[in-house]
Amino acid sequence: MHPPIAEKKVKSRNYDAVAGIYEMLANLYSFGLIRRAKLAELDHLKPGDRVLYLGAGSGEDAVAAARMGAQVTAIDLSVRMIDRLRRRMARKRLEAELIAGDALALAPDPLFDAVCGNYFFNVFGPDDMPVVLARAATYVRPGGHLMIADMAPPSGLLGPLAWLYLKFGLSFFWLLGLASQHPIYDYRPALQRLGFRQVALHDHRLFGIGPALYRTLVFVRPEISA
Ligand SMILES: C[S@@+](CC[C@H](N)C(=O)[O-])C[C@H]1O[C@@H](n2cnc3c(N)ncnc32)[C@H](O)[C@@H]1O
Repeated sequence: MHPPIAEKKVKSRNYDAVAGIYEMLANLYSFGLIRRAKLAELDHLKPGDRVLYLGAGSGEDAVAAARMGAQVTAIDLSVRMIDRLRRRMARKRLEAELIAGDALALAPDPLFDAVCGNYFFNVFGPDDMPVVLARAATYVRPGGHLMIADMAPPSGLLGPLAWLYLKFGLSFFWLLGLASQHPIYDYRPALQRLGFRQVALHDHRLFGIGPALYRTLVFVRPEISA
């Protein structure tokens, strides 16, 4: 049996130390693909949608969603990440609800039209990740979207090369105390078990060729049956 969410060890304190450079490093390492995978979610949002960003970091995706007219809530355990996001939003004269706190401890009412967990679920080890995913799923209103931008599970002939590249990044993060060592997750089976239906999958490849390195997944929470 899993321990209660509140007792879970979360890896976020170290994110304070890298708050100022995290996005830049991620986008350099991935030639911008990490950002592209996040921004692909915008196609599945519309102005006025209530959107929650879990483990938002400094929130380039949250800023983009607010700019297109979504009502953004963003939460991160790292105070520095949230401070940075707050300054960004202010500079662009955008409004958003920004929370420095534990994304696993929310009880939203009403539920969100869309919940985005971008490079968030892979912070957690294989025992905790499905529990965190299930928790996030409870924040989505029936008929709403759960979206995930993350690494793509390597496949195909060049899959081993993709695996090496992604494992290098993951190990670097692990060394800095920013993530657990774990396989590259495929979130689809866990979400399908929760009754979510996949409605889109965007793969992102270096220069548009070769193996998929990052992926955007979009799921719909089933409507409550009458
Ligand atoms: C790998 S970063 C991704 C940040 C951002 N989503 C992005 O794509 O740039 C993971 C983020 O999750 C945050 N985090 C980890 N555990 C958390 C928790 N329980 N509640 C809220 N944020 C958490 C960390 O502080 C960190 O900013």
